[in-house]
Amino acid sequence: MNALSDTVFFEIKDGVALLRIDNPPVNGLGNTVRSGLFRGLMLAISDASIKAVIIAGTGKMFCGGADIRQFNTPAASEKPLSRDIQQLIRSANKPVIAAIHGTALGGGLELALACHYRVAQEAAQLGLPEVQLGLIPGGGGTQRLPRLIGAKAALDLIVQGRSIPASKAQAIGLVDATCPDDVIKAATIFALQKTSNADPLPDLHEKKPKHEGIDFSAIRNGLDERARNYTAQKAAVDCIEIACTTDLDTGLTAERDVFLELMNGSESRALRHMFFAERLAPKFESISASKPASITSVAVLGAGTMGSGIAMAFANADIPVFLIEREQAALDRGWNLIQKNYGVTVEKGKLDQSEMDRRTNRIRRSLHLEDAASADLVIEAVFEDLEIKKDLFRRLDVICKPGAILATNTSRLNINEIAAVTKRPQDVIGLHFFSPANVMRLLEVVRGNATSDNVIGRCMTMAQNIGKIPVLVGVCEGFVGNRMLTGYWREAWFLLEEGTLPQQIDTAMKRFGMAMGPLTMADMAGLDINWATRKRLAAMWPEKLRYPHVADRICEAGRLGQKTGAGYYRYEAGNRTPLPDPAAQAIIEAASREAGLERRIIEDDEIVERCVLALINEGARIVEEGIARRASDIDVIYVHGYGFPAWRGGPMHYAETLGLPTVLKQIQALQTRHGSHWQPAPLLQRLVEQGKSSFA
Ligand code: NAI
Repeated sequence: MNALSDTVFFEIKDGVALLRIDNPPVNGLGNTVRSGLFRGLMLAISDASIKAVIIAGTGKMFCGGADIRQFNTPAASEKPLSRDIQQLIRSANKPVIAAIHGTALGGGLELALACHYRVAQEAAQLGLPEVQLGLIPGGGGTQRLPRLIGAKAALDLIVQGRSIPASKAQAIGLVDATCPDDVIKAATIFALQKTSNADPLPDLHEKKPKHEGIDFSAIRNGLDERARNYTAQKAAVDCIEIACTTDLDTGLTAERDVFLELMNGSESRALRHMFFAERLAPKFESISASKPASITSVAVLGAGTMGSGIAMAFANADIPVFLIEREQAALDRGWNLIQKNYGVTVEKGKLDQSEMDRRTNRIRRSLHLEDAASADLVIEAVFEDLEIKKDLFRRLDVICKPGAILATNTSRLNINEIAAVTKRPQDVIGLHFFSPANVMRLLEVVRGNATSDNVIGRCMTMAQNIGKIPVLVGVCEGFVGNRMLTGYWREAWFLLEEGTLPQQIDTAMKRFGMAMGPLTMADMAGLDINWATRKRLAAMWPEKLRYPHVADRICEAGRLGQKTGAGYYRYEAGNRTPLPDPAAQAIIEAASREAGLERRIIEDDEIVERCVLALINEGARIVEEGIARRASDIDVIYVHGYGFPAWRGGPMHYAETLGLPTVLKQIQALQTRHGSHWQPAPLLQRLVEQGKSSFA
């Protein structure tokens, strides 16, 4: 094989030229791949002895699309561009065939679409996932695909960013032939067949997309405006409509313009940031040389809200679980909850009954702690009470097999103190699942001072095996997510005392993009947990610091959130919809008087600014203290655990888009106005002094 560039190789066999992309990990269409393909095509086209050209990938796949490592770098715009390659293929007087194995995604599929034919291995997956990164296919996908398979099928693929298997791709006309294994051999046979007959080469320029009966406006109106990638989805529909109404060249230019606008827009930048952040967060290189043993049996202690959800998360991943309670009634309650949750999924048609049975059978129930003896991993999810947890860990230390991981699901308590009651603190770790634990993907993996790397590594791998995104964090009050909530809620409470009502705060935050406002979230989580924490920490509250009395007054009125039918809102029996409540308003107004505050009109912008800056400022402290390994981990936690809008990229990325100097100035202004709880994080001050624009 001859090298055409660092990443593309050339070979001629049976009069057919083979261009092979070799650019790990995904054969992304970086500058050297593009220049190699361009050179190879030029050579093949000008050599009369070559009858056809095959483009194929090396390693795991054909091509995973653009080289996203080069996004927003000069290499991305270096010539030749993908469209130059596509033009060259169009000008070829011999068939150019894409030989697809593994996956053809995004720009990879667009390259294949520009070829005259596509031959795919049966196991291959094809798709245009760009909308998931807030983009549209920018290399002709929105224009060529509808011409090849019709606008309806193209809308299905592009707007949802879905991949389909080769068999389906063949059925809808996206690939011309499939083969079980050796795709290059199959493509060569296909090429020789095509060269032996006199059929003209297919040219999508000549084709109009089928689009009868499609109401593009209705499709646009049907999109979810709150979806993380709404702008991109809408743009994809627009571009497919353009494909139906103009010639290919005009459509390609229009698509390009839309693509560039999205690429430079904040939504796609944020989604691309999240894409990398989500892949970086789970990485943990254990220093132990031996491969960590996997986790094949689990015991969960406590069958409450969390314990039952955690048991389901393992059962869903085919891992047997012992669910252990201290009393039969609680165990029955937990078991009923599990049955009910699976039952709803079956009713919705998302799970069949036999699979539900298989999963529930994986959960064994017990009232004996001794049943945790043989588990590789024990997760404690009993009441949030340090003494109860310590007592349990003392007993687990005696019962559990050597090498078992002893985890606590505590949301705030000190893991070092829990570990200290055992003789094996190196095996004790926090696994902070989020509610509902069978649904939420985030898992804060909390390393204690003594937790071994081996145990951390096993937990990070286990988490990914059960479909979670693990983020490694350190021990402190509330770890990362809940620690940041403290400031966020504090501002919400102060805003109540200064003149707002819960519904105004929550509406403003939802408009900003939060899945739920802070006070609706507080009502849902239950106000007693925070109340207990405030009481626990009361002695440490600095005398001069303003205290949010309104939060206590609401609790003192017996309003503990949804579970008591009232909190910041009121709730009707069996209904979780928060309803504005004059009784809550009266408590809030009384708290304003108690604080000596004249209630004032507060704009939504102030609500958003104060709540979000509180998150950012605490986030910066967390990065500085090393409680999070990186700022982007905080973004993963907030997007996946707290409903922060992914299209804003999490609080730390959002701070960077605002500009760190602006963020610092706003925080300083709040400090002047509201006092020392707005002390800017030292890291933020330092980064601004050093002229840095990011936390990385
Ligand atoms: P819960 O009150 O719903 O359930 C606790 C269960 O533990 C009860 O069923 C109780 O009977 C059982 N239990 C108590 N002592 C026991 C013992 N010695 N042995 C076996 N079972 C025992 O509580 P929830 O909400 O499930 O919380 C459990 C833990 O998870 C707490 O540490 C909490 O902070 C944490 N957590 C809670 C979240 C939530 O949203 N509810 C989120 C993340 C963590």
